[in-house]
Amino acid sequence: MKQPPRPRPAFVLAIAAVLLVAGCDDMTKQRKQNPYASRATAPGEVPGGTVQYGETASPVPPVTMALLERGRTEYHVFCASCHAETGDGHGMIVQRGFPAPPPLAMSSPAASRPQFLYDVVTGGRGMMYGFAQRIEPGDRWAVVAYVHALQRSQHMVLADLTPEQRAAP
Ligand code: HEC
Repeated sequence: MKQPPRPRPAFVLAIAAVLLVAGCDDMTKQRKQNPYASRATAPGEVPGGTVQYGETASPVPPVTMALLERGRTEYHVFCASCHAETGDGHGMIVQRGFPAPPPLAMSSPAASRPQFLYDVVTGGRGMMYGFAQRIEPGDRWAVVAYVHALQRSQHMVLADLTPEQRAAP
């Protein structure tokens, strides 16, 4: 029986080369994002809905009930898994083996300064990762206010009280 003629290797190579070149040509023409074409924001400007990394300067909002409630929500979402709802440091992740943070209420006076708390939430500390990309600056201050309230609710010192509060029964 007569065999069909086998294609010669050179011929196969030539076809492959043509396909390859054609493929490259298509790739240069296909629809794609050109990162240099245009910018939605000016250089250095932060696009809406995103959080700038490494940001520290942010106005400190006045502590209101609404801010504390926002802070409580954020704390429960982002912090309680390690620090626990009470701040004692025995959250679920710690119960599963993560190193325990110190109880928030036992923090030294320096560690309960709002700016210190804000910087820890922003950039992390030791084993704790930062939340710069997850919590926007305004909400970080809300968390700070809530953590501060949590600390004071468990570790109040006499000097924190006004003379009227001290005199109260
Ligand atoms: C994955 C676990 C984890 C999460 C989530 C976490 N932390 Fe921490 N945090 C730690 C650990 C561990 C330390 C101790 C770090 C060290 O000193 O090495 C710490 C330390 C701190 C400190 C410093 C305490 C001190 O006295 O030095 C503060 C304040 C704090 N965290 C607040 C927060 C807040 C607020 C959140 C939520 C936005 C948060 N943490 C989320 C694990 C966590």
